[in-house]
Amino acid sequence: MPDAPASPARGVWGSRVGFVLAAAGSAIGLGNIWRFPYVVGENGGAVFVLIYLGFVFLIGAPVMLGELALGRRTERNPVGAFAAVAPGTLWRFVGLLGVITGVGILSFYGVIAGWTFGYFLKTVSGGFNTIIAQESAAVFDDFVSNWMLSTGLLAAFLVLTALIVWRGVSRGIELMSKILMPMLFFLLAVLAFRSVTLSGAREGLEFYLAPDFSKLRAQTFPTALGQAFFSLSLGMGAMITYGSYIRKREDLVASAGIVCLFDTMIALLAGLIIFPALFHAGLDPASGVGLVFQVLPPLFATLPGGQLFGSAFFLLLTIAALTSTISLLEVPVSYLIDEWKWSRGKAVLVTTLGTALLGVPSALAFGAVGLFSSVPGANVDFLTLMNIVFGNYSLSVGSLLLAVFIGYRWGVAGAAKEIELEGVAFGLRPVWAFLIRFLCPVAVAVIIVYIVLTGNYF
Ligand code: PHE
Repeated sequence: MPDAPASPARGVWGSRVGFVLAAAGSAIGLGNIWRFPYVVGENGGAVFVLIYLGFVFLIGAPVMLGELALGRRTERNPVGAFAAVAPGTLWRFVGLLGVITGVGILSFYGVIAGWTFGYFLKTVSGGFNTIIAQESAAVFDDFVSNWMLSTGLLAAFLVLTALIVWRGVSRGIELMSKILMPMLFFLLAVLAFRSVTLSGAREGLEFYLAPDFSKLRAQTFPTALGQAFFSLSLGMGAMITYGSYIRKREDLVASAGIVCLFDTMIALLAGLIIFPALFHAGLDPASGVGLVFQVLPPLFATLPGGQLFGSAFFLLLTIAALTSTISLLEVPVSYLIDEWKWSRGKAVLVTTLGTALLGVPSALAFGAVGLFSSVPGANVDFLTLMNIVFGNYSLSVGSLLLAVFIGYRWGVAGAAKEIELEGVAFGLRPVWAFLIRFLCPVAVAVIIVYIVLTGNYF
């Protein structure tokens, strides 16, 4: 098989390491460090973590392999990928759902990423040097209620994302991921060490690691499932798109495995930082979207050299968010390039503007404006609503349909042929076939149907 992609304009990853790091860069982001701890905190701690881990490896990993295989086989954006395998069918709308979901996620993700950058600026300038845990919630509220700041940071972040995506896949994305991901990992490990040695850490570790099954609720399942898809960047075609830039000789099974493993390690590390520190400071684990922003600054303030350390941390987290937003933006952009024959520049410009407009209500959600602060019927702000609709259910539906598509329309034989190209060994093939055909679709469908029947969406 030739290494060259279908059209030279699409680009191709520079190396195996480059691809794995870029895919890991997409997966690792705010989902691990911001979203994971707060949903764990809201859903009873360790029980949630247990179910989450089960979902990552039994449902997420097989879906990831499926997305990568579909992308590499077709060398297309999500819409084109479905259409290439099943021409003239409605399947391409699954790809379109992914494109829409990408924009939806990017719109609120950009707001949180903006806050992260804002926290970086505040840390570097010494604004958090003396912060104590008891006041950090008020400081956070104050920070996010400045809507001009939130909107400005959102805009800045989207522009940065757009510039990188505009430069093209390989040059823009690979380079960032290669150097910065390992640095982030190192900082997280040091922080986790600091956190577990705090007084009162034990209680936090228990909450986080010793399952209390009485805390299990019906809501735990869809939330854990959605978190798994969100964190692994699945269900909207990000991995189809990234897979479309992989060379034929790479081992997709190993790549998917490594990405799932890295992503999970980072999320687990983030929990090891947040929960001991949280219990140490006597904060509420169910603080929602603001959780990490409330726990971390006071933790840094207790560290020798905390200002430097905290600055490095928020900067790296901003960059980790950036390598994720790049993959979110790349989905609609590759769709417009492939299917509408737009130039990359035009596609980037139009998508970024649209996303920015959609993001404004999320940026205002916590703000003084309050116009969007609650949606009738759901007692949540606009940002949280977007997070649940696009970041949870949309990805779950997308992954369900993808599993059905691979299992029954393309067929496991066809997919396995792509995976086994150039003699790559696929010993887990029967296991994968079972998971993608039966376990994934059934489990996801049962959870979604249950939620629809009971109306417990939130
Ligand atoms: N996985 C990313 C994160 O954890 C978010 C993301 C979701 C990126 C879906 C792409 C697609 O931050």
